[in-house]
Amino acid sequence: MAALVLFGGGGDLAIRMLLPSLYFLEHDGLLPDGLKIIAAARSEESREAYLARVKDSVIKRADGHWSDESFARVAERIDYVAVDATSAEGLSALKEKLGDDRELTYFLAVSPSLYGPIVRALKAAGLTGPQARIVLEKPVGRDLESFRQIDAEVAHAFDERQVFRIDHYLGKETVQNLIALRFGNTIFEPLWNNLSIDHVQITVGETVGVGDRWPYYDEYGALRDMLQNHMLQLLCLVAMEPPSDLDPDSVRNEKVKVLRSLRPISAANVRDVTVRGQYVGGHGPDGPVKGYEEERGAPSDIDTYVALRADIDNWRWAGVPFYMRTGKRLPEKRTEIVIQFKPVPHSIFDQRGDVVANRMVIELQPEEDISLTVMNKRPGLDQRMQLQPIRMSLSWGVDGKGAKPPRRRIAYERLLLDAMAGDSTLFVRADEAEKAWEWVDGVSEAWAEAEYRPHIYRPGTWGPDAGDRLLARDGRTWNTNDG
Ligand code: BG6
Repeated sequence: MAALVLFGGGGDLAIRMLLPSLYFLEHDGLLPDGLKIIAAARSEESREAYLARVKDSVIKRADGHWSDESFARVAERIDYVAVDATSAEGLSALKEKLGDDRELTYFLAVSPSLYGPIVRALKAAGLTGPQARIVLEKPVGRDLESFRQIDAEVAHAFDERQVFRIDHYLGKETVQNLIALRFGNTIFEPLWNNLSIDHVQITVGETVGVGDRWPYYDEYGALRDMLQNHMLQLLCLVAMEPPSDLDPDSVRNEKVKVLRSLRPISAANVRDVTVRGQYVGGHGPDGPVKGYEEERGAPSDIDTYVALRADIDNWRWAGVPFYMRTGKRLPEKRTEIVIQFKPVPHSIFDQRGDVVANRMVIELQPEEDISLTVMNKRPGLDQRMQLQPIRMSLSWGVDGKGAKPPRRRIAYERLLLDAMAGDSTLFVRADEAEKAWEWVDGVSEAWAEAEYRPHIYRPGTWGPDAGDRLLARDGRTWNTNDG
């Protein structure tokens, strides 16, 4: 029989994301027959009290998709066990609950400092057979060296094929749709290179501040929290060569080649191609908000905003910058990838400015959509032909098959199913994580060497002005979505 064990089962990630995901999978009839779900956590809590917490969280998430019956079914699978997961003896209560189950998936929703100790304890307790799998939540390490240390500990008990490093962005519907768009059509791929594309922008804007997560955040900043993983993964999916099939290693081989081609950033150019920012206090959309240093209670030079220009040194992308920016306390929660095509080589219309260059926007949030802006004649009898840009959206789907799903899925739904089925296509392989850390370490070392402290920015703005200048110096601007 199969079992899913959630270490950190009482924590924020499990309660807010994992259990609601499992509820939805149950609701849609997708959980494997007989699957047991065991929440393992440090504190003693009765199963009833735990389920009551889970129910509250699921109700908040369900938003029109709540069903007493589905919840009762998922609740029946759930057990709660208090453990000290760092020693074999501490795991004895869990071992008892697992009995003869051997198809085990462990999800480590705990601090990464516990990954090594938990893996060692699982091995010592005899709970790591060839059918076991381990799912590691990010961040795995804080730099290349700490990543390698953790990975080496995990490798004592699990082969690479048993290790599933989560990047929840890969579970987002539109991210997978990007693969369908690129490799399920013939019309885009011939244009997907430096002959037709001017540049690419990746924006992950968040309105929230760091708040009480600062002890974690102060060690990581936006660069390590968002760019090293989510944003570089998005960059890889845009930039990779077509894999020969969807086999996990075929896809990941192509992604790692992109990471290998990223041009290193050094102290000599770090002020030209990167921008660091940190928000101060002020007025957010919902009233006054604290600055990062007030939240932290002390001065800090960590980045809550980062923007940079990445260059991919290969044939396809030579000369096509990938601009990336992410930050907290920005005006919108918006994640998008913008593929900016080149302008027409010669305009036959009166004014060249009439013709806006084509742009594809792959929007992950707040909406899930892929749209393409094309030029069109404005209807009418004007003497001088009037053009207008028209945005075509894939989710409008004129044949009634609009890509809009009945509800927005939680990214973890896809990833939990895949991990339990042993499909690692949407998980990060060790060499990918290493290459991403190596490049990001280079940026942070360059910052240190150049003594580059963050610029300040006001909440509710798109970061420091230097973020705009990063593109302006190349004659470009960030996408504003207003036409
Ligand atoms: C997490 C980061 O990985 O992703 C958070 O640690 C961030 O700081 C979050 O807020 C964003 O995820 P999403 O899916 O809301 O864009």
